[in-house]
Amino acid sequence: PSDAECALAKSGSVLVGMLNPFDAAGLQRVAAAGLTGFALEAAPRTTRAQSMDVLSSQANIAGYKAVMIAADKYQRFFPMLMTAAGTVKAARVVILGVGVAGLQAIATAKRLGAVIEASDVRPSVKEQIESLGGKFIDVPYETQEEKDAAEGVGGYARPMPASWLTRQQAEVAKRVALADVVISTALIPGRAAPTLITEDMVKSMKPGSVIVDIAAGKGPDGVGGNCPLSEADKTVVKHGVTIVGETNLAALVAADASALYARNVLDFLKLVLTKEGTLKIDLEDDIVAACRVTQDGQVTKK
Ligand code: NAI
Repeated sequence: PSDAECALAKSGSVLVGMLNPFDAAGLQRVAAAGLTGFALEAAPRTTRAQSMDVLSSQANIAGYKAVMIAADKYQRFFPMLMTAAGTVKAARVVILGVGVAGLQAIATAKRLGAVIEASDVRPSVKEQIESLGGKFIDVPYETQEEKDAAEGVGGYARPMPASWLTRQQAEVAKRVALADVVISTALIPGRAAPTLITEDMVKSMKPGSVIVDIAAGKGPDGVGGNCPLSEADKTVVKHGVTIVGETNLAALVAADASALYARNVLDFLKLVLTKEGTLKIDLEDDIVAACRVTQDGQVTKK
């Protein structure tokens, strides 16, 4: 909420939502307004927390919509077609970052008949990509440090050593040059999105290709995303490539986004309300404790 909205809030009330636990100034504002804030993005990635996982419910939609937009901007078919008037080749789609959004993007592009290759730092995604009919862009780990970093923490990625990123970039660059569509979703919690599609890589792409950068607006210093040429909330054409920088893709599938988000919030409320409807904040509950970011005028985020 903005300053003006915080000023309207009743001190001591509870605010549940996507409060961005990495936005220190925003949390300070919520704390100063006397609100007890719960940031649902901070929930642990555990089975019990799944039904209130707002990142998953919204990223899933973003991955789907990114492919829909790409298919719309791309002026050719996705599937291979053999017709009396000639054969059309299947579109080559490269997915960078295979978390929730990336997996849904693979599944959606596959349904449209594309040929898919995907890259991620975490080795566990290889099987997931293959089970959806995509091909994993393998960049083997050469040191223990690379291996340890790739394991990530709590399911999330950590920044990878430069040595691995250089090799990944070389492998990804080859695929991007041949790609018709690139969908990038790579994020590292609390940090800038990694640069995966450089300007030279964009130049190497065929005219008419499409990049949908789901990380747009989250690049270093808020500029670009996984591609430094992407512009938040704009669609631009650079070096003949259409680059879509939509930052709120879930909002473009608004009815389902709202329905799933509402279910996330409702399930969280069940943890902090008694059957009679009174507030009961149990900090012994790991989900409640992880999501609580402000209370009694203080920022309590760990
Ligand atoms: P995210 O939105 O934080 O990041 C997207 C993807 O980008 C991740 O797969 C990450 O590994 C990847 N990435 C980061 N740096 C990269 C780089 N340099 N190159 C290529 N890829 C890069 O991730 P998201 O979607 O929030 O998922 C994070 C994890 O949480 C996953 O392991 C997912 O399976 C897990 N998860 C677990 C759940 C549960 O058990 N309840 C529910 C939802 C997700």
